[in-house]
Amino acid sequence: MKIAISGKGGSGKTTISATLTRILARRGLPVLAIDGDPNPNLIQALGLGPGVEAEAVPRSVVERREDEAGQARHVLTTTIEDIVSQYGLKAPDGVTVLVGTRVDHAGAG
Ligand SMILES: Nc1ncnc2c1ncn2[C@@H]1O[C@H](COP(=O)(O)OP(=O)(O)OP(=O)(O)O)[C@@H](O)[C@H]1O
Ligand SMILES: [Mg+2]
Repeated sequence: MKIAISGKGGSGKTTISATLTRILARRGLPVLAIDGDPNPNLIQALGLGPGVEAEAVPRSVVERREDEAGQARHVLTTTIEDIVSQYGLKAPDGVTVLVGTRVDHAGAG
């Protein structure tokens, strides 16, 4: 099951995401939480300390390729398992969390 949470600024997206993922993980489900906010703070909302820094998944894991019909497709250059083992953090209740994007400097968004 994939659940996407979106909405306007400050409406509780991160709080709901952290609460929902921890509830699902406590029920024994394997949970991968991905923070897609360019100013990410899901790892803190999940209970990881203020000193914990996550390395954001680099853009190079996705490549734009054309198929035989000339249709552009975005494909992963590595496996999900490799991405999770390299960039995933273990959070309380067994949630695994990835920071999917981050804007580090002007013009990088
Ligand atoms: N159900 C709630 N009742 C009261 N306050 C809440 C509730 N849910 C979230 N908040 C508070 O509202 C504020 C915004 O919540 P949150 O950061 O989860 O929103 P967001 O949609 O992720 O914001 P942003 O768009 O900045 O990423 C926080 O201070 C949070 O503690
Ligand atoms: Mg948020």
